[in-house]
Amino acid sequence: MVSKHPLHLFIFLLFLPFWSSAKDTINSGFNVEVIHRDSPLSPFYDSSTTPFHRFTEAARRSLVRSRSHRSPFASTSSIESIVHPDTAEHLMKFSIGTPPVPVLVVIDTGSDLVWSRCKPCIDCIGRSVPLLDPQHSSTYTELSCGSPRCKALDASACDKGPKCNYTYGYGDGSSTSGVFSTETLTFDTTDGGTFSIHDVAFGCGHNNSISFNDHLYGLAGLGRGSYSLISQLGPNIGGKFSYCFVPFQENTSTSIMSFGDQAVIKGNGVVSTPLLGEDSGTFYFVILEHISVGGTMLEVPPPKASGTGNMFIDSGTTLTLIDSKIFQQLKQALNTAVKLPPTTDPGKTFLCYNATSRDGFPTITFHFAGNADLVLHPLNAFTEPSPDGLVCLVMLPTDGMPIFGNTVQQNFHVSYDLVGKKVSFKPTLCSKVSK
Ligand SMILES: *[C@@H]1O[C@H](CO)[C@@H](O)[C@H](O)[C@H]1NC(C)=O
Ligand SMILES: *[C@@H]1O[C@H](CO)[C@@H](O)[C@H](O)[C@H]1NC(C)=O
Ligand SMILES: *[C@@H]1O[C@H](CO)[C@@H](O)[C@H](O)[C@H]1NC(C)=O
Ligand SMILES: *[C@@H]1O[C@H](CO)[C@@H](O)[C@H](O)[C@H]1NC(C)=O
Repeated sequence: MVSKHPLHLFIFLLFLPFWSSAKDTINSGFNVEVIHRDSPLSPFYDSSTTPFHRFTEAARRSLVRSRSHRSPFASTSSIESIVHPDTAEHLMKFSIGTPPVPVLVVIDTGSDLVWSRCKPCIDCIGRSVPLLDPQHSSTYTELSCGSPRCKALDASACDKGPKCNYTYGYGDGSSTSGVFSTETLTFDTTDGGTFSIHDVAFGCGHNNSISFNDHLYGLAGLGRGSYSLISQLGPNIGGKFSYCFVPFQENTSTSIMSFGDQAVIKGNGVVSTPLLGEDSGTFYFVILEHISVGGTMLEVPPPKASGTGNMFIDSGTTLTLIDSKIFQQLKQALNTAVKLPPTTDPGKTFLCYNATSRDGFPTITFHFAGNADLVLHPLNAFTEPSPDGLVCLVMLPTDGMPIFGNTVQQNFHVSYDLVGKKVSFKPTLCSKVSK
């Protein structure tokens, strides 16, 4: 089921400084709604499955995703694009073009490219997927192969003709290809207004892997690379964005994503940790120093090189993946604290306990560098009891890239500041965040 493909890395990135030719500038930032892919509001929603089944499916997607990540300790080469985009978990709506055509795209902090399925579309034949038609937009412009933005995406584009024909590969071998172009993007903001940004470079995908879900319109990369949505929003948002994910089970609430000054979190309970790694790399690396549970403090090995992290924060992975050695210690500490005999799920993947509620389960604290202690309540760290009475830990061991996934981030306001180079967290009831 989970296959291990070699990494197909096609995209060579020249490290360019931020560019932005955005013509609108705003001072206060803006908020948009995001929905979970398994929420009843999502086209991916399947009413025939149970919440526990949806969780295990999401967990399976996380594993696919983590296995396709390249090692964080591999040389920091000029190569991009790592994950399987179909596995990311949240969707955001915006419109592309003039007149604006609404699209609902997967958001992904683990990759950079923004792309959409475009007419004519080779892989869409016989599928009922929504498509953009560049012929019907007055603001659609193809980039030439020699333009700086085209070269930043694919230095060899001019070997493939005068247009900026791109192929962007993901870690599992899936890809999108088409013409790297520019368009106007328009966001519906939660205050009832709109925010438009012009001249955003995006992939008009004419030939995308057939493995992509029918419902996938496209993807918005929220990584740190120069052509991600975040970088292209540039001065409009000052390198700041945030999200507050409503817990998975609260299936009728939408979550909020904020940009610019709206993304700044203040007040009691805010903790911050330095953002590490190269500015133009994709991932949001941080340093995890310890994990504690009950009275036991587990030490996490420091990063292999100075200026790098030992874990990255990802909005698109459901599970949290921990260094295998630390995981064994965590398991022991949990067994002591939970006071129930450990078992596994039927798939023998997770550490579980026979329990009909999460009452009495311990909190687990992640201590990030800079005294940023995140107390994970049982709601963040364990699944809801399944119908047959199993409560499972949402963390797994890895020998690859450790990831701080999205279940543990639920009910935290998570705020990224790429200029100040930090990530901040504040415990928050996300369903109560005013829209
Ligand atoms: C470049 O893209 C255009 C439009 O998709 C296509 O017609 C053309 O054949 C492509 N050229 C190459 C060399 O792939
Ligand atoms: C579409 O992309 C696939 C790779 O994903 C490639 O094998 C195929 O030749 C492409 N089709 C066309 C018509 O370019
Ligand atoms: C929403 O979640 C509740 C509680 O988990 C569940 O009982 C209900 O069936 C869910 N509704 C839908 C439409 O999935
Ligand atoms: C725990 O629950 C599983 C099924 O959910 C069951 O097969 C097993 O016997 C239970 N174990 C104990 C010790 O109750």
